[in-house]
Amino acid sequence: ASYETLLVEQRGAVTLITLNRPQALNALNSRILADMIAATAAFDADESQGCAVITGSEKAFAAGADIKEMQSQGFADMYSHDFFAGWERVTATRKPIIAAVAGYALGGGCEVAMMCDFILAADTAKFGQPEVKLAVTPGMGGSQRLTRAVGKAKAMEMVLTGRMMDAEEAERAGLVSRVVPAADLIEEAVKTAATIASMAPLAALANKEMVNAAFETGLAMGIQFERRLFHGLFGTEDQKEGMAAFIEKRPGKWTGK
Ligand code: HXC
Repeated sequence: ASYETLLVEQRGAVTLITLNRPQALNALNSRILADMIAATAAFDADESQGCAVITGSEKAFAAGADIKEMQSQGFADMYSHDFFAGWERVTATRKPIIAAVAGYALGGGCEVAMMCDFILAADTAKFGQPEVKLAVTPGMGGSQRLTRAVGKAKAMEMVLTGRMMDAEEAERAGLVSRVVPAADLIEEAVKTAATIASMAPLAALANKEMVNAAFETGLAMGIQFERRLFHGLFGTEDQKEGMAAFIEKRPGKWTGK
C-alpha cells in the first residue's frame, strides 16, 4: 500500500515506517493519523513481519500535533470527534514497535515516540512537551507516559516550562533505551528490530504484553499475569523447539505455533 504522509518499506521481517511531511517537520495531522492506523494494522496482520521501526527525518521525528489544524477547533469539535483517540488504535498493535528518533520529538511527536515499545535516540534527538506554551497540555498520553518513564520531577518540569531534554539527558532519565550516532540511527534500529523479528513470534507478543502489564497492574497481579502467560507458552511448538535447539546447540526454527 502507499500512503500520502508515510513511506513504508519492508526490510526482511522488519517494517520501516517513515513519517514524511517534511514541509511541516512531520506535524501530526489527521492524514498522518489515518495513515499510521492503516500502516500499523497492515504490519500487525502481515505474518512475514516481526517488528516495526517508526522514524522521521534527520531534523524532526515529529514537531508535534498539527497546530494549524487544531487552532480553530472548539470544545464541541474536539469532544464530539474524541480528537486524538485514534492514536489508541496505533498503540493496540500487538507486535513490537521501536521509535527511532533524530531531531525534534516535541508534543505529539514525543507522545508518539513514547507510544512505541522503546525509543532508540540519535545523539541529535530533542524531547519535549511544550504544549503549555500554546496554552494547552499534552493530549496524546504525554502527561502519563512521560511521568511513568522519567518520574514526577522531570515530567513536571518539562510540562510546566516546555523545556527540551537532549538525547543524553533522556537516556539518563530512562526515556530512551540507547543513544547512537545520528548517522547510524536507522541501521541500528533496523538491526535491533531484525533481532526482535528473529525470535519466536508468540514469545515476542507475550514479552511485550507482559512488560506493558507492569503499567496497568499492581506487582502481585503483574507477576501473576507474567506467570500465567509464561505457563501458556509451554503449550506452544516453538517452546519445545527453542529449548531443543539450545540443548542441540543449533538455532531454533519457528513455526509461530
Ligand atoms: C504545524 C508546524 C509544527 C506544528 C512546525 N511546523 N511545527 N506546523 N504544527 N506542530 C511548521 C512551521 O510552521 C513551518 O511551516 C515549518 O514547519 C518549519 O518549522 P520552523 O518553525 O520554521 O522550523 P525551526 O525554526 O527550525 O523550528 C523548529 C521547531 C519549531 C523548534 C520544532 O517548529 C516549533 O517550535 N514547532 C512547534 C513545536 C510545538 O509546540 N509542538 C507541540 C505542538 S502541540 P512554514 O509554513 O512556516 O514553513 C501538541 C500537543 C498535542 O503536539 C496535544 C494538545 C492539543
